[in-house]
Amino acid sequence: MNNTDIPRIRAWFEAYSGSFLTGDEMNDKNIRLKIDHSYRVLERMSDIADRLKLGGKKRSIALTCALLHDCGRFEQFEKYRTYADVRSENHGRLGVKVLEENDVLTDLTSKTAEIITKAVLLHNAKALPDNLTAEQRYFTELTRDADKIDIFNVVVEYYLDDDPLKDRTVVHNLPEGEDVCDEVFEEFMHEGHVTFDFMKSVVDFKVFQIGWVWDINNRAALRILSELGYVERIISLMPVTVRTTAVAERYRTFIQILDDEKRLSWTEISREKLHDCRIFSLYSSQRESSVGTTSTAYMIEAPDWVTIVPLIEKGGEDYFVMVRQYRHGSMDVTTEFPAGTLEPGEEPETAALRELQEETGYKAGRMTWLGSVNPNPAFLTNNFTAYLAEELTSTGTQNLDEHEYVDYDLIPVSEVVRRMGSGEYSNGTMLMALMYYLRESGKIKLD
Ligand SMILES: [Fe+2]
Repeated sequence: MNNTDIPRIRAWFEAYSGSFLTGDEMNDKNIRLKIDHSYRVLERMSDIADRLKLGGKKRSIALTCALLHDCGRFEQFEKYRTYADVRSENHGRLGVKVLEENDVLTDLTSKTAEIITKAVLLHNAKALPDNLTAEQRYFTELTRDADKIDIFNVVVEYYLDDDPLKDRTVVHNLPEGEDVCDEVFEEFMHEGHVTFDFMKSVVDFKVFQIGWVWDINNRAALRILSELGYVERIISLMPVTVRTTAVAERYRTFIQILDDEKRLSWTEISREKLHDCRIFSLYSSQRESSVGTTSTAYMIEAPDWVTIVPLIEKGGEDYFVMVRQYRHGSMDVTTEFPAGTLEPGEEPETAALRELQEETGYKAGRMTWLGSVNPNPAFLTNNFTAYLAEELTSTGTQNLDEHEYVDYDLIPVSEVVRRMGSGEYSNGTMLMALMYYLRESGKIKLD
């Protein structure tokens, strides 16, 4: 995604959603509901992205998923005069159809388009399928979180609206009720979640909504939700009974995790650069704990790193393209996946393609994001991202820097897996890349 995609897609969304406004009061009120919701989800996604320090292409994809997640809603209302999927059709699937018919994503790479399509398709799914790539899952989960935060807002607004003619389909036309029913109470207290089928009253529905908190995927989103106070507001709008008190308590115990984090956290008072080395800088930082004690922390600030897992098939066997080089830290020759640091402003995927070609001469036709992690948060500040590189073609020419001496070779996947973490396979970050690869390729079973 480049810088012009976001304004273009935003302009499309504005024109497209606006085209459903007809001047009819009831129609326009309903359409505006979803237009406003989409922009608020965009805002929430922007908050989440800030806290996750998402930049560049990742941020653009996240914002696009948020803005477009409900683009099926407009046609849904025009066709069926309802937002209830059970009485019309799945609005996630309808959204995908709308994006296709309007060529909204055709300027994007097929991989980016597919990430956005999956997020739109699955933002309202009960559970996510197992066959998503790590990248698709990541953005779909972000979208579901941003969406959920604003749905909490929408229902709170509904509860606070004292108009007797308000649209009761929001609460599925359930009667008000006086307490939580047996099934919902039992399920909530055991699971946190509640199955929709047991709903007997609006009180049950409120407990069902509180249960969504357990489905929030990202801690950053959970923090935003807690700060906005929507759940506490819902709790305050339930009748006070032994059961609703127990529900509130269970929620507050769960959300305590955020206070625990605050208690464990340190605040930075000042930071000073102590030494500038070529490949990293050393910093000292004055920190204050939650109980007021102070201490000096030292950290290494380095550019972000990428590691590439290049996979090639030969004669029916899978091989990795591995590199051999001398490492100054361990003062030994290691065997590793190709890897390198990002140039200033460079996207991780671009760096991965560049490093692969520089170190091995291989070009990749397909790159798959495997995951991103801080390689050692104790004293490193940077990120490590791993990519799977496939559809490889060899140019036969390396392009190495001065003082870079690198050999490369094809090594059977089975051998790398067997030997990783010992002998010449001693670079710990390669274990991270390999674990990501094994997970992505389904070679690690999750249950
Ligand atoms: Fe939706």
